[in-house]
Amino acid sequence: MASNPNVSRLSLYDIVRTPGVAVDLSHIDRKIKVEGYNGQDNLLKVLDGSDVVIIPAGVPRKPGMTRDDLFNTNAGIAMNLAKACATACPKACILVICNPVNSTVPIFSETFKKMGVLDPRKIMGVTELDTLRARTFLAAELDVDENAYTVPIVGGHAGTTIIPLFSQLPGDLIEQIDVPALTKRVQFGGDEVVVAKAGMGSATLSMAYAGATFANSVLAGLKGEMNIIEQAYFQQDVLGCKFFASQIELGRNGIERALPIPKDITVSEQKAIEKAVPVIQEQIAKGIKYVEQNF
Ligand code: 2OP
Repeated sequence: MASNPNVSRLSLYDIVRTPGVAVDLSHIDRKIKVEGYNGQDNLLKVLDGSDVVIIPAGVPRKPGMTRDDLFNTNAGIAMNLAKACATACPKACILVICNPVNSTVPIFSETFKKMGVLDPRKIMGVTELDTLRARTFLAAELDVDENAYTVPIVGGHAGTTIIPLFSQLPGDLIEQIDVPALTKRVQFGGDEVVVAKAGMGSATLSMAYAGATFANSVLAGLKGEMNIIEQAYFQQDVLGCKFFASQIELGRNGIERALPIPKDITVSEQKAIEKAVPVIQEQIAKGIKYVEQNF
């Protein structure tokens, strides 16, 4: 974000070590204001005046854990940050990376709702890394440029709720790939990193790249650029889920519109969506209940 030409001020927040990171970043040859603060007392100051807030907060997974296993620790962190954002920068676009995204995005939305400032077009769960993984793994299998094809992903951001729609590839490409294997790899790509890091956390570098890529698109949309298609998990009514990931068009108001699930998906994609719906519903309900009980 420090090297992004659309950024004029970059404010960092963490519980420890933030001022040092800010000084480090301030040596990048861009004329922007970089500041960094530790601790809850500085939180509102950091957020004040922000147009975009990126939330990579919370604890990461260890091998054998699902994203849902992080709920008990990260729900409180998410709600605390949501309250601060709703107070200091209620009109900002909030980009939620903090896991479990399927539940933390509802926590942000519900907190904003309780505080009377909810604009569902502006609270977005970052699912960009799923798209990057699909594009990367597909390109490797087909031996083509990694930007050759984009695979729409719907559902959520956890295991089998991540549903890549390889049916949307042009021509007969779907015949040339091992769809079940690629689907599984996209769904559990996060686990590949968690296992390889052997207890030292989950994806941080590819996640930072994905988060910065998505934030760049959000900033471009806010500036008025047109036809920016990305994807995110956000508040919308799809198949009885109050939150759902889909392709979106970004613009001056954040999410300007959501693209519907394509009609010509395969039977197995349809079945995967049907199986994911109750899982997503349960994870949404968990987030909403947390806010109801702890706000
Ligand atoms: C991932 O997909 C950390 O949820 C993140 O790897």
